[in-house]
Amino acid sequence: GEAIAIPDAGFSFAGFFGTFDRGAAQRGLQVYKEVCAACHGMYQLSYRNLLEIGLSEEQVRAIAATFEVRDGPNDMGEMFDRPARLSDRFRRPFANELAARAANNGAYPPDLSVMAKARPNGANYLHALLVGYVEPPPGFTVAEGMYYNAYFPGHQIAMPAILNPDQVEYADGTAATVDQMARDVTTFLAWAAEPETEQRRAMGIRIILFLIVLGGLTYAVKRKVWADVK
Ligand code: HEM
Repeated sequence: GEAIAIPDAGFSFAGFFGTFDRGAAQRGLQVYKEVCAACHGMYQLSYRNLLEIGLSEEQVRAIAATFEVRDGPNDMGEMFDRPARLSDRFRRPFANELAARAANNGAYPPDLSVMAKARPNGANYLHALLVGYVEPPPGFTVAEGMYYNAYFPGHQIAMPAILNPDQVEYADGTAATVDQMARDVTTFLAWAAEPETEQRRAMGIRIILFLIVLGGLTYAVKRKVWADVK
């Protein structure tokens, strides 16, 4: 299909000195948990990773405990469900791909662990996709069970417009507009795909500062050593 121009959503983590907005990441976790987790897993994440977005251990334990994960076999050789613990991976919403497709009109909701890196211009694309459900242009026929999206390649996507105003109630009082929820969940997904971004940038900045100081010292020494040579 034709290339679609994706708007720049202006995320705080996008620039060289960028950092993840912890408030946005925490709200995004809430959107993931209350909306996306019904269909999408994030299996590369463990609940304890959530400590990195500024939640306390108590908060993360409480969040984990709201998910039931499969465990076993027990002494009787049976599998069973139990509330998740810090060391568990994020819960998989379906037992397997077949079950996932059966529940989604044949389409497969992909794992979102590294989705923000998996698509070109990932974060801006995710945000655009989530706010991109609009009326199809005249003459465009949308197949049954599919939805029109301005930014999905080919424009027909099997995921319905899942975000509606006030779908979640944010604890910090932020108004849950569709755009806000899309931004927040995108921030969360961008952090999940690249949690080491901030450390890498901080290291890069330290290296540059070191090179500037080293350059200055080298120059000073050079001047001193050659001072008497005319
Ligand atoms: C696909 C995100 C909620 C069902 C996708 C894709 C993303 C995504 C990034 C891949 C798009 C691509 O391939 O470029 C999200 C987010 C959600 C969410 C962030 C929560 C805010 C849901 C829910 C359902 C769902 C609740 C089920 C009711 C699907 C399906 C696909 C999909 C079936 C495959 C679409 C296709 O290939 O045509 N989603 N999703 N999603 N999602 Fe979601």
